Amino acid sequence: MHPRNLARQFAATLAELRETWDVEYWPAGSIPARTAVAPGRSPSEGESPSVSMESGAEPRAAAVTSAPVHLPVAGEMRTQAKQWTPATKLDYLRKRNVGDCQRCGLARSRTKIVFGVGNPEAKIMFVGEAPGADEDRQGEPFVGRAGARLNVWLAELGLSRDEVYIANVLKCRPPANRDPKPDEVEKCSPFLQAQIRAIAPRVIVALGRHAGMLLSRRDDLRLNAMRSATLYYEVDVDAVETRRIPIVVTYHPSYVLRQEGTSDGVEPAERLVMQDLARAVALTNL
Ligand code: URA
Repeated sequence: MHPRNLARQFAATLAELRETWDVEYWPAGSIPARTAVAPGRSPSEGESPSVSMESGAEPRAAAVTSAPVHLPVAGEMRTQAKQWTPATKLDYLRKRNVGDCQRCGLARSRTKIVFGVGNPEAKIMFVGEAPGADEDRQGEPFVGRAGARLNVWLAELGLSRDEVYIANVLKCRPPANRDPKPDEVEKCSPFLQAQIRAIAPRVIVALGRHAGMLLSRRDDLRLNAMRSATLYYEVDVDAVETRRIPIVVTYHPSYVLRQEGTSDGVEPAERLVMQDLARAVALTNL
């Protein structure tokens, strides 16, 4: 084979590996199927073509060659995926999976997708509910009033936003900050799950009941019960290792802000938050 063709074939296989790794990356059935299609072959009935990419991304490998290309078997995919850094995984997720997501109705009203921010190798990951107006405008989680309070908590723990990772259950703002709807959570939460898999933090802090319920799969518990329960998030890291990541559920900063000045005789929620966060930090040192 001419070296140029060999290089093209290699590029095609590499692109396919990425596509295939990505399919492997999602829990089966959790997102609309993106069956990897061998370059030069059209998707057959029952297969979904690969999702369209963001504008500016390179064209799909399918256009490169019509020669049959070896598709990697599961073991090879895992080997490939294991070599990616958490940052590469997150970048891939943001650009190729989330892209210009249109999976639910929130795509019509959002300004920016709010993917997540922070250290891809963070030991501690914070998960909120959904972006608000400020986050929607800036494309970054927790940058409004609730975010300012979260920053204060982090500072009290001796942490900065660059050391931790911050994301939400929903990546787009629900209109008028209403609660997430079940179909939005169903369509969007695989992104959060994939973020957790990429980062594999030592502990996850769920801010508020929505995040706590989703991560712990315990919709029978009220927030206070979640705070005192021992909860874990099971994560399949690179499809080779299952890890149980402790979940610490605490009050959402917006709740704490609302509660301030109205809690005569009640233990201020913020004091409880700081206890919960101290427990979370202690868990990162295990
Ligand atoms: N509330 C959230 O749950 N997430 C944000 O990003 C901002 C406010």
